[in-house]
Amino acid sequence: MDEQQTPHKRRVRYSGTHPKRFEEKYKELNPEKYAEDVQRIIEKGHTPAGMHISIMVQEILDFLDIKPGQVGLDATLGYGGHTRAMLAKLQGNGHIYGLDVDPIESVKTEKRLRDAGFDETIFTVRLQNFADIDRVTQDTGRKFDFILADLGVSSMQIDDPKRGFSYKVDGPLDLRLNPETGVSGAERLQELTRQELQHMFTENADEPYAQQIADNIMKWRYMWKPIETTTQLRDCIAEALAFLPKHEQKEAVKKSCQRCFQAIRIDINGEFDALYAFLEKLPDVLAPNGKVAILTFHSGEDRMVKKAFQTFERQGVYKEVARDIIRPSAEECIRNSRAKSTKMRWAIRAED
Ligand SMILES: C[S@@+](CC[C@H](N)C(=O)[O-])C[C@H]1O[C@@H](n2cnc3c(N)ncnc32)[C@H](O)[C@@H]1O
Repeated sequence: MDEQQTPHKRRVRYSGTHPKRFEEKYKELNPEKYAEDVQRIIEKGHTPAGMHISIMVQEILDFLDIKPGQVGLDATLGYGGHTRAMLAKLQGNGHIYGLDVDPIESVKTEKRLRDAGFDETIFTVRLQNFADIDRVTQDTGRKFDFILADLGVSSMQIDDPKRGFSYKVDGPLDLRLNPETGVSGAERLQELTRQELQHMFTENADEPYAQQIADNIMKWRYMWKPIETTTQLRDCIAEALAFLPKHEQKEAVKKSCQRCFQAIRIDINGEFDALYAFLEKLPDVLAPNGKVAILTFHSGEDRMVKKAFQTFERQGVYKEVARDIIRPSAEECIRNSRAKSTKMRWAIRAED
């Protein structure tokens, strides 16, 4: 068929001039092909769809001071940005193990890093919870010279409506880091009692309207009103806060949604238990003088890290720990608004 006969095939169009829906952002979802467009989005201070901008990379590299030949572990592989920067420091000699519980994103990240030239001799991905960090040392017989944990969720997970992490876009109320196992957020809301719901919102996210929101979830359950999607939960929270003065409602609903989604996510993914186990096992998997850096995103996590580091320091297990939290620079927070709540702490293992 010659050119004239070829029927003209139009790309599937989205409504409007700029795609708004995650799955329509074809340029951002293909950063290799549309590198310049993606760079422009990053320069404007946004995170392109399907991508995660790593936080405090330079501060982490400065502290870890990675040398060729060392063995390290990234406990939260995510998009692989930190891993990539740490791999570069090995200069082709050494090894990094990257852990993540997310089977969807870790496959893409492994491919991205393999395509960037990091083969199995220098980099291993393990679909594994960092609570079981000791299994890596048992399996490999190696302790780590450096460990990084960048807690929470990645931008790819938050932005993908199918994952249900954000109240801003409609999707199933899932919130599982590994959607192939455990119960979804929607199922969890059906099985907890009123007291348990209130406790979850208070303990995991300091939600000031925990009682009103728990009450309204119970009311919706008695009325057989579904809370199966992100927007249904947002509507339920908004209804619970309808007693507030009109001019305060919008902001209050936004904040309560952020906190409640976070509280459910922490609960169904067992995030506090995982962090506790990780902090307890760290001294046994770090080599003498081995270094660990942890990025946290809310006060509950930071308190746990601070306490564990200080306790082990008093016992002489760590020879030094960060005296204060380290924050991203103001410039980084402007460049990447998701960095604003980050707190970094570090510790150095004593020699045996
Ligand atoms: C903030 S992202 C990490 C981003 C990464 N540092 C980067 O530069 O792209 C956190 C990642 O940790 C993973 N994660 C959360 N809890 C985990 C756990 N207990 N074990 C392993 N991975 C976990 C999440 O699935 C997510 O991919």
